[in-house]
Order: sequence, then C-alpha cells, then structure tokens
Amino acid sequence: MGAEVVVEGLTKSFGRQTIWRDVTLTLPPGEVSVLLGPSGTGKSVFLKSLIGLLKPDRGRCVVDGVDVVTCSEHRLYEVRKLFGVLFQDGALFGSMTLFDNIAFPLREHTRKSETEIRRIVHEKLELTGLAGADRKLPGEISGGMRKRAGLARALVLDPQIVLVDEPDSGLDPVRTSYISQLFLDVNARSDATFLIVTHNINLARTVPDNLGMLFRRELVLFGPREVLLTSEEPVVRQFLNGRMDGPIGMSEEKDSATMAAERAKFAAGHHDGGVEEVVGIPPQMQPAPGLPPRPGEARRKDRVLRLLPTLPEAAQDGILASLTPEERRRYGVDRVPGSDRVDHGRHRVEEVS
Ligand SMILES: Nc1ncnc2c1ncn2[C@@H]1O[C@H](COP(=O)(O)OP(=O)(O)OP(=O)(O)O)[C@@H](O)[C@H]1O
Ligand SMILES: [Mg+2]
Repeated sequence: MGAEVVVEGLTKSFGRQTIWRDVTLTLPPGEVSVLLGPSGTGKSVFLKSLIGLLKPDRGRCVVDGVDVVTCSEHRLYEVRKLFGVLFQDGALFGSMTLFDNIAFPLREHTRKSETEIRRIVHEKLELTGLAGADRKLPGEISGGMRKRAGLARALVLDPQIVLVDEPDSGLDPVRTSYISQLFLDVNARSDATFLIVTHNINLARTVPDNLGMLFRRELVLFGPREVLLTSEEPVVRQFLNGRMDGPIGMSEEKDSATMAAERAKFAAGHHDGGVEEVVGIPPQMQPAPGLPPRPGEARRKDRVLRLLPTLPEAAQDGILASLTPEERRRYGVDRVPGSDRVDHGRHRVEEVS
C-alpha cells in the first residue's frame, strides 16, 4: 500500500507574505487526490513542503510516520526516496539526454546494472509516449514532451507517493486524457498515493478519489470528490465553470464592490467566459481493461461510507447513486438518493469496517 501523508496545521510564509495557513488534510494511502486553486495560491509551494524542499513555519507533515518539517537531513533524504515528483517546470537537466534524465534517480538511488536501467528507462519512455526520443535533449523537444519526460522520471523508482504539478499544462486534450489514464493505471498496479495539482477541470472531475481547493490563504475544502463537485461555495462554482463572475479576479481576489459592479455587467448580458454550467458528478475513470481494480478505490469506498452521515446532502446522494444494489446491501444503506437522510447509516456502516 502507498504511504499515508498527514498534514496538520501547516502554515507557510515568505517574509511577511503568508502563502497559506493551518492547512490540515490527509492523503489516504493509495488514493488519488487532486488539489485545485487559482494561480498563486501556493499549490506548488505546498507540494514542495510535502517533500521538505521548503520549510513551513508551523505545523506537521507526517510522511510514512516521519515529520518532514522537523526531521534530520538524513531522515529527509530517506523519506524523499518514497516520492516521485513532477515539478511544474519539468526540472529536467538541460545538458542531459532524456535517457540520462530519466535514468538519473536509478543511478543516484539504486545499484541496478546498466542493462536493468536501460530496460526500466525504455519502459517508462514507452509508458509516457516518448519511445524513440531517448537521445534528445530537453531543449530539442516540445513543451508537452518535456512534461511527459518529467513524468517518466517521476515514475522511474516506482514511488510510493507520486506528486505531480500541472501534468497537463502544455498537453493537448487527447494527451491529457492519456496522462489521466496513465495515472489510474499506475495507481492500479502500484497502489501508490497520488497528489495531482491541476487547472484541468475535466481531469479534476473524472480522475481523483479526493478533491481539495486552496483559496485566500486557506484550504477551502478537502475530501471525497463528491463533496467538492456538488459544493455550492461560490469560489468552487466559479472555478469549476471558469467564469469571471465570482470571488476570483485576474490578480488578487476581488473586493465586494468590484464583484457587485461586475455582477451588474454580467447580468446585463456581458459574457462571463463560462460556456456551459458544469454540474454533477461524472463517473470516475477506471484503470484500463485487463488491469486489476484499484485497491485504493475499494478502501476509499469503505472509508467514504463510514463518513457518509457527516457529509453534505448532495455529496451523500452522489455517493449513494454510485453504489451497485449489492454494495447498498453490503453497506446497509437502502435509502434512495434524494429522499430523507439515513439516520441509521452510521451504525450499519461501521459494522462492515
Ligand atoms: N521561493 C520563494 N520565495 C518567495 N516567494 C515564493 C517562493 N516560491 C513561491 N513564492 C510565492 O508564493 C506564492 C505561491 O506560489 P506557487 O508557485 O505555490 O503558486 P501556485 O498556486 O502553484 O500557482 P500556479 O497555479 O500559477 O502554478 C506566490 O506569490 C509566489 O510568488
Ligand atoms: Mg504552481
């Protein structure tokens, strides 16, 4: 099973600028989570804090039992081996070929033979659609290819935790779907814990088990995907729909006067940039046919059903609607989505855990 990451009361500032405060969340082992948030809200800073590249001011970040905020450099070096990271800019070595870039973690952290390294690197190149590009330098390939090479390198040690920062930026919509599929396939095979930062709403709606969002220096939400996807929070609705109408502005968040003035403009018919209302919970993408089911998905189902009575109604309905009749019986939830809440749910569900 992938490693668990427990973040408690994490706060990070640079000088007098607080990036985010009191962030608390758990990345459940082997589950796939996505973090959304407007540009500049500190998503990349958050990922870097998880691997101890940046030091938060307060709070804990416990990875597989080790607090990376306070542990020794030696422990941190060991903990980092659990991670595969795709940085936002790809962070490839410009003077090395793709082959050497991808082989780098294997040469640095393992004692594998060159034959073995060659086999693994070619497998990852194939996986990310880069077969044949192994001799190219990063400067000689497209932005999307660089991103995929960074991903190949992130996966090369078969990490227990995969962090990816905007894997889709620079990728066309088709390649983005292939990358989404790849994440779920890798997760099905490895049971690694995933955290994906993205602005891609399609990916956010169809890939993860859990969804969260940073805004105004706080974690607005983090939990089962159904919670964010059915949330009525204005900032969530605005973000999912890509509209100008709402609390997120071009630079900093808007004040209420600006918001009111803009609202009048949109009410008078000015296009707010949104196209169609993004509503509901689409089915989650699955691993490719022939692969085993994702162990993380099964664990998540048990976990979410235990949480059910504590979740907002719309999220409860979404979760119930996704269960098969057999699962409803197994979890002891026989309420039809949309009808009255189950008050016996908690008891009945805990029996199966
Ligand atoms: N090393 C640093 N020193 C000082 N400020 C920094 C540093 N790294 C990031 N910041 C600041 O922290 C804030 C958050 O940056 P971050 O890159 O995490 O945003 P983001 O949410 O990833 O945005 P985007 O969606 O555009 O990638 C920004 O204001 C940025 O200027
Ligand atoms: Mg970023």
